[in-house]
Amino acid sequence: KPRVLSGIQPTADSFHLGNYLGALRQWVRLQDTHETFYCVVDLHAITVEHDPALLLERTRRSAAQLLAIGLDPEEGALFVQSQVPEHAQLSWVLECQTGFGEASRMTQFKDKAARQGTDRASVGLFTYPVLQAADILLYQANAVPVGEDQRQHLELSRNLAQRFNNRFGPTLTVPEPHIVTDTAKIYDLQDPTAKMSKSASSAGGLIELMEDPKRSAKKIRSAVTDAGREIVYDPEGKPGVSNLLIIYSALTDRPVAELETAYEGKGYGDLKKDVAEVLVEFVEPFQQRVRSYLDDVAELDKLLTRGAERARDVASATLSEVYRRIGFLQPA
Ligand code: TYM
Repeated sequence: KPRVLSGIQPTADSFHLGNYLGALRQWVRLQDTHETFYCVVDLHAITVEHDPALLLERTRRSAAQLLAIGLDPEEGALFVQSQVPEHAQLSWVLECQTGFGEASRMTQFKDKAARQGTDRASVGLFTYPVLQAADILLYQANAVPVGEDQRQHLELSRNLAQRFNNRFGPTLTVPEPHIVTDTAKIYDLQDPTAKMSKSASSAGGLIELMEDPKRSAKKIRSAVTDAGREIVYDPEGKPGVSNLLIIYSALTDRPVAELETAYEGKGYGDLKKDVAEVLVEFVEPFQQRVRSYLDDVAELDKLLTRGAERARDVASATLSEVYRRIGFLQPA
């Protein structure tokens, strides 16, 4: 079976609808066809200032949410990044293959560093994409399901794999991005030209999967829509309506064209009411499952430890091969 790896940061109390529709839904689907490695990337989460107790809580909440969307810890490996030390180890080797200028061109780094001020931004924030490459390359992943905002990081991962192979011999699989076009970028409900984002969106623009579903429904009903009254998919001319159509289509698996026909002659209010309804239908049972995983933290921690052990089997084999190729002394 081809392999998949992906990760998500435990930097909020809740995943948001963009995370789910852009990436996590694909994580679940790929379990049927791929050998999967999915991790909560806590090493990445400390690249910005953080609170230790909150990080720990959010790591568990993230894992519980991943289980609740339907990841099967028996099928694939579900783990926490810091429990697999090979990530940090491979990252160092790859940092030494990365150009300073190359890393400086990463737009997410530039954005985040600009927001924090260069003096406050950490070196870890700068090398963040290299650690991400290590995450992927350790598992010889063929495909990486992510949203559009991760495309540049994946390009770096591909370049680093190719560069390593050229310099030291064929060792690392060159990964392909798995970005599903329709849902690759879910937009802010209050500003449908900006992506939905935990850091940049206003509360009204962001649907958190763990918030009160009534609140989510209200946000959908007050989403910014466009001039005119026709319900058609037109991302340029009608970004607000198009975003709602994509969300509706993804949650119900009904093609957008079918929805356009179904809403002929109806108004924006009807569409919003229905999107709010399908969202609540998805979120309520999801939240119940999350709570039940969080009710037994000891069991959750055990499950994650087993996941890390499985991940390590694969990660340590890749790291040994990398160490050998690079000329490090082998254990006698
Ligand atoms: P993170 O934690 O910011 O987001 C997790 C996933 O959600 C996707 N996403 C979106 N997709 C569509 N529309 C949106 N509005 C939206 N917002 C977020 C992201 O593209 C991502 O797939 N650097 C990564 C985490 C990471 C990783 C990895 C990913 C670390 N190591 C290895 C893949 C492979 C990140 O910050 O994702």
